[in-house]
Amino acid sequence: MSKTVLILLGAPGAGKGTQAARLAQALGLPHISTGDLFRANLAGGTSLGDRARSFMDQGELVPDELVLEMLFDRVAQEDCQSGYLLDGFPRTIAQAEALEARLEGLVPMVIDIQVPDSDIEQRIVGRRMCKECGAIFHLTFNAPAQEGVCNACSGALYQRKDDTAEVVRTRLEEYHQKTAPLIAFYSERGGVSAVDGRQQPDLVFEACVASIQGSGHGSSHGVNS
Ligand code: AP5
Ligand code: MG
Ligand code: ZN
Repeated sequence: MSKTVLILLGAPGAGKGTQAARLAQALGLPHISTGDLFRANLAGGTSLGDRARSFMDQGELVPDELVLEMLFDRVAQEDCQSGYLLDGFPRTIAQAEALEARLEGLVPMVIDIQVPDSDIEQRIVGRRMCKECGAIFHLTFNAPAQEGVCNACSGALYQRKDDTAEVVRTRLEEYHQKTAPLIAFYSERGGVSAVDGRQQPDLVFEACVASIQGSGHGSSHGVNS
């Protein structure tokens, strides 16, 4: 079976995590979010978590060497043999080049979820996440049935420490300066599928599936929308 590596690009709050959870299920691939991996390290009190903490709290990118070691450890695991879905990685040209070297000629499929900056603060400040299963909610756009309680597992919902109007400004600056150049990087290689992230989540999902099927990657993984 051919290997599929799918990269979701997009600004903070564009909906990468929301779509990645659904796409990973539809494609039967593991969902790998470097943000989630760092948050697990923070919660677990590891030294990696300690080193990443101040960058994350301030909305700055964590230095490439910390990210790369963690990510490459993760994708070396057995469940990534036939591919994986990357959410929040790569975030810099150096990370993209390191991934390219590791993929040894395999060209990733890249989807860019586009949402204007003017929509981002509301998305970020209203987000609530489940402590237990990581499900993503929004107080207005995707409210849980019961306040503070996860629909999927009844776990408690919390607000990320970096989800404030102040920190989101730095996160957006970091995105435009360091991550947005990846659109040109991948356009010069296998191409980038742009998806309008302002639509309802179901429509964003359908657009992602259509671009995966159009690329020929969906068939080898029996994409199931
Ligand atoms: P990370 O966790 O990756 O955060 P991010 O990129 O800022 O993205 P978010 O998780 O905030 O947004 P999302 O696009 O996943 O949106 P979501 O689906 O949740 O990274 C956090 C930090 O870790 C970084 O700042 C950095 O410090 C560090 N880090 C991580 N990876 C790194 C790397 N590779 N290199 C260096 N540092 C790294 O949706 C957002 C909200 O909108 C939710 O409430 C959701 O319900 C709602 N929503 C989603 N879709 C829609 C829709 N279509 N319409 C309306 N609302 C919607
Ligand atoms: Mg996310
Ligand atoms: Zn849950």
